[in-house]
Amino acid sequence: MGTFAVTGSASGMGAASAALLERAGHTVIGVDLHDAHVVADLGMPDGRAHAVAEVLSLSGGRLDGVAAIAGVGPSVRDAAAVMSVNYFGPVALLTGLRAALAASGAGRAVVISSNSASTVPLVDDGLAALALAGDEDGARERARAGQAAAPAEILDFAPSITAYATSKLAVAHWVRRTAVTPEWARRGVLLNAIAPGAVLTPLMTGSTGGAAFDDPDAFPTPMPLGVFGQAEDIAFWVHQFLRPEARFTTGAVLYVDGGTDAAMRPDAH
Ligand code: NAI
Repeated sequence: MGTFAVTGSASGMGAASAALLERAGHTVIGVDLHDAHVVADLGMPDGRAHAVAEVLSLSGGRLDGVAAIAGVGPSVRDAAAVMSVNYFGPVALLTGLRAALAASGAGRAVVISSNSASTVPLVDDGLAALALAGDEDGARERARAGQAAAPAEILDFAPSITAYATSKLAVAHWVRRTAVTPEWARRGVLLNAIAPGAVLTPLMTGSTGGAAFDDPDAFPTPMPLGVFGQAEDIAFWVHQFLRPEARFTTGAVLYVDGGTDAAMRPDAH
């Protein structure tokens, strides 16, 4: 049985993924702000360094997989924090754990992006470029400046929507750029992303008081399957990407969104 690190393990998709891995007999090292084996703030450089060191220590420097799931939603007021948690957090964690994944001989990594990267029209390409260049200070500054320019009707319920969608676009691009580099691909470490749609976790239901989640057909984006996702629907695919048998897929971004992206962009792939 393997050893897996899961960030965001205290709630939602991370908790469901950790539970699924544990039920399959694996050892899970949970990382979160609270209620985890490793308590760390992945929005801060010190917290990321602490998380990497603790996971390396608890795993003995050998990991079968990492699921970078921790993140925040667009209702967070500080757009800079959204960039730090959602982009710089998973990138630093996965970079710091890459050698431990390579040590297992068939390391697997999966990151949670979002279908908002392709379905939200407010993505800031300049902000994504700063993130991908590794400029956290610059990205934080631009995210805050962009927040001030967003339409007022959106700011009420999703004050960080531009930073949120952009952080998720940047993390998907980072996955595609990084997965094919020799340090990952030729060391047998496969790296993929999942882009969920509307999933009923505390992140979603807490952001609007729950009223918007009574009827999928009244949701602002199309929900072709007529249902919202559950945390377990994402955990299923996290588990698939982390299996050693998943050996010919890297750099993929898989939409697990009830068909929203296909409905909005039928001719894109
Ligand atoms: P959740 O709020 O239930 O779980 C997120 C977990 O991440 C929490 O346990 C939280 O404590 C942890 N976390 C937040 N900030 C952290 C930090 N600075 N350091 C360490 N841990 C931190 O939310 P959910 O929905 O399970 O979210 C999981 C991922 O899915 C996130 O990256 C989110 O952005 C993404 N996502 C969620 C969607 C949804 O509809 N729920 C849709 C698309 C993407």
